[in-house]
Amino acid sequence: MTAQLIDGAAVAARLRQTIRERVASLTADYGRAPGLAVVLVGSDPASQVYVRNKGKATIEVGMHSIEHHLDASTSEAELLALVARLNSDPGVDGILVQLPLPGHIDSQRVLLAIDPDKDVDGFHPINAGRLMTGQTGLVPCTPSGCMLLLKEVLPSLAGLHAVVVGRSNIVGKPIAQLLLQADCTVTIAHSRTRDLPAVCRSADILIAAVGRPEMIKGNWLKTGAVVIDVGINRIAAADGKTRLVGDVATQEALQHVQAITPVPGGVGPMTIACLLNNTLTAFERRQRS
Ligand code: GUN
Repeated sequence: MTAQLIDGAAVAARLRQTIRERVASLTADYGRAPGLAVVLVGSDPASQVYVRNKGKATIEVGMHSIEHHLDASTSEAELLALVARLNSDPGVDGILVQLPLPGHIDSQRVLLAIDPDKDVDGFHPINAGRLMTGQTGLVPCTPSGCMLLLKEVLPSLAGLHAVVVGRSNIVGKPIAQLLLQADCTVTIAHSRTRDLPAVCRSADILIAAVGRPEMIKGNWLKTGAVVIDVGINRIAAADGKTRLVGDVATQEALQHVQAITPVPGGVGPMTIACLLNNTLTAFERRQRS
């Protein structure tokens, strides 16, 4: 069987192009571009790269990018005051507070303070509840990206058995809800699951979101399965450098599956594209309300 590598970079580029066209038309109609505010507290190098990439992608689709870089010593009260200002700023449609926050700030309290209709990360419990109950809300970006990649290969997911390995609030739980909405039979597996290889072998669709390098082996996969690998793990390579690998042993998996997302170049590029899509959605809903 020749397995297909699902090209996340290409799918994300297509989505960004669609967003760019919609932004141009909405900006002409409403006299302003959608605005995304990103807040970074401190100088964590990985977070700085993420925030820079988000800002760049925002500008590239014609949106207004607002960046707040705050000192690591910023108090929780100061951060909450900034969130309150962004909540009431009519030019801000989406708010993202980059995680992790410094230890002296209660992340949960900050995420709860974001207006759920501007919560483009989809992390607010109101949005988690809306997703769970099938109401209109904002959906976390990485799970949305996974669903778009699945649809590249499987036009209908109805009746398929989807196994999600990982139960985080950011990926595992929300993607399980989206798969259920798409009429899959869903199993959520995790570190305490008994006989994980057997559970994985029963999956028509496998979503790997555990954060453990190449934990899921080729012979854990059903012949013809579609695999979405959410893991991004940096490991030491033989040449003394480092390289990125997913949660699935991709080379082995290619012998078994119908399609799989590569790491890098699979799910990763979809996350920012879906963030822009959420900002566009938040803008459109706010204009209508
Ligand atoms: N830190 C790493 N990924 C993310 C993300 O998707 N959203 C936020 N807010 N912080 C992050």
